[in-house]
Amino acid sequence: MLVGERVTLRGLRRDDLEPLWRFNNDLDVELAGGGDPPMPQSIQRLEADFDRQAAEGDRDGAWFAIEIDGAFAGQCGLFDFNETARTAQLGIVIGDKRYWGQGYGREAVNLLVDYAFRYRNFRRVWLWVHADNERAIRAYRACGFAEEGRLREHMYSNGRYVDVVYMGVLHSDRAA
Ligand SMILES: CC(C)(COP(=O)(O)OP(=O)(O)OC[C@H]1O[C@@H](n2cnc3c(N)ncnc32)[C@H](O)[C@@H]1OP(=O)(O)O)[C@@H](O)C(=O)NCCC(=O)NCCS
Repeated sequence: MLVGERVTLRGLRRDDLEPLWRFNNDLDVELAGGGDPPMPQSIQRLEADFDRQAAEGDRDGAWFAIEIDGAFAGQCGLFDFNETARTAQLGIVIGDKRYWGQGYGREAVNLLVDYAFRYRNFRRVWLWVHADNERAIRAYRACGFAEEGRLREHMYSNGRYVDVVYMGVLHSDRAA
């Protein structure tokens, strides 16, 4: 469990699944998150995936539930590990829109980046984001991420083509 001033990152619980299902079916959240076009998700599929992974035992990799004010508000994590270059990709979705734009995202990202460098010994964390997702880009910049590249009109989202921005932060950037 990673505890910040206002945000706690912890393991996902089964009682998080109902709000998670609502977040995953919220068009605004889906469009901001990027990636695949919006698609419905049944709660049964979410529960089945959760139960299958829980039955496998072991740990949850580097995926965390985001808790704000004691309530489940979304998920974030590290994935796509490159053990040779010591890099990991970061993903985050605060699914409860009431919490957007109040500094919770940057606190969660800071906790996660600290976790990546301090506890997992990664040296670089990177991510990609829609160029028009200004809220996310500003939050990432506040955590030390810099824009490193841009794929022009690389994604089709909500009726138009948008650039994809690659951002990254090195351990040495944070130490500086
Ligand atoms: C992206 C996300 C994690 C950011 O977390 P957050 O708590 O909303 O962000 P923060 O409050 O820490 O920072 C937001 C920044 O954007 C600004 N902002 C807030 N609302 C904005 C808006 N509608 N448009 C542009 N900028 C906005 C804030 O002023 C702040 O910047 P500043 O500190 O430089 O002034 C969160 O909004 C989220 O999960 N969104 C939906 C999914 C998503 O976009 N995921 C990222 C995919 S790459």
